Amino acid sequence: MHYTQLIGSLFLLPCILSASACVTPNPTPAAFTNFNDNIFFFPAANAVNWKTLYARSLQLPDESLLMTWENYPAEPPLVNHPIYKSVDGGATWSNFSAIKDQVNGWGMRFQPFLYTLPQAFGGYPAGTLLAAGVSAPFSLQGGVYIDLYVSQDSAKTWNFVSHIAYGNGPEDITTGHAAIWEPFLMMYSGSLVCYFSDQRDSAHSQKLVHVTTTDLHTWSAAVDDVSYSAKNDRPGMTTVAYIASKQQYIMTYEYCGTAKCAVYYKTAPNPLNFNSATGIALVGNDTSKTVPKGSPYVIWTPNPAKTDGSGVIIASSGSLEPVLINDDSASPQGWKVVNVGQWSAYSRSLRIITVQGKKKLLFGNGGNMGDPNCNSVANGVIEVPY
Ligand SMILES: *[C@@H]1O[C@H](CO)[C@@H](O)[C@H](O)[C@H]1NC(C)=O
Ligand SMILES: *[C@@H]1O[C@H](CO)[C@@H](O)[C@H](O)[C@H]1NC(C)=O
Repeated sequence: MHYTQLIGSLFLLPCILSASACVTPNPTPAAFTNFNDNIFFFPAANAVNWKTLYARSLQLPDESLLMTWENYPAEPPLVNHPIYKSVDGGATWSNFSAIKDQVNGWGMRFQPFLYTLPQAFGGYPAGTLLAAGVSAPFSLQGGVYIDLYVSQDSAKTWNFVSHIAYGNGPEDITTGHAAIWEPFLMMYSGSLVCYFSDQRDSAHSQKLVHVTTTDLHTWSAAVDDVSYSAKNDRPGMTTVAYIASKQQYIMTYEYCGTAKCAVYYKTAPNPLNFNSATGIALVGNDTSKTVPKGSPYVIWTPNPAKTDGSGVIIASSGSLEPVLINDDSASPQGWKVVNVGQWSAYSRSLRIITVQGKKKLLFGNGGNMGDPNCNSVANGVIEVPY
């Protein structure tokens, strides 16, 4: 989905605007504490488009935190995906490095994603950092790549590795335009998987697909994960989590078009075969049956209150401040709405981190698709809800 066309399509705006609007910054939190809504980056006044959007985090082995996002300073120079770093549990952040386009001459423009290799892979040791992101020209005309970068020095420097996918563009949400969006990386069974949103199939305004690699250089053809027969339906924004206790994978996505961007999910024992699973509407089990809409994010973590290996599934959406949590069954009746005190954001990211050895939930907020003048980058660190 994207930008100016999205404003025109209206399906997301009413709920998202009411959840955020312009906000007053909070005082800087104390180091290594719990807090919400901690703005640590304000875009320049002359920044363009959404100014900031779509924050993504990572934690390094020394417990320091990284955050990146879509960043829109006036160009030139070409846009990049900034890397900010925190060494005090997310309380304060400073500019550390940037993932810059080294091959296309277009900039790193949309939807960054950070990932740590859990095993030696493609000639790199376990612990190597990967970054995927969308590189497209400012004009959005003439081609688009989802590109892969690697860092072997704890995010100080980044080097191009491979093109994960290519579209002819233009990079906008018009049906029939061969755009690609929103990479999400995950290792599975000896392959690195990249899930993304795909407008290149003329039978669908957009569908969800994945590609795989065994060497970080050569990527497979795209395989469907979610596609609907109504041509104008637009499932979008895959995220995936592993429910370890059940050896099941869960993917969340927004179902735009027929379902008006309601959040849906699928579960499957094989995350390369979500296509054969049925999409289920993710609806709160509160009395008002809360319907989260747009830009979901899902994670799984062991339940802090249990010792039997069972866990908690945590889902975020663009339209709500609360998260929805479930037990490992992912039952459609099991989504409990939990207030977490954190502003909503377009594609607010979730990550389990440790702060001085204790597990916490980290939020990454890059702003909303309302008034871009209200956007900034904020984080939050809370106890893991269960
Ligand atoms: C952050 O630092 C990197 C590398 O030192 C630099 O290229 C980039 O422009 C800086 N970003 C900002 C927002 O100052
Ligand atoms: C909602 O789901 C949770 C599990 O996540 C369960 O404990 C709770 O009983 C459910 N509430 C209702 C009203 O069904």
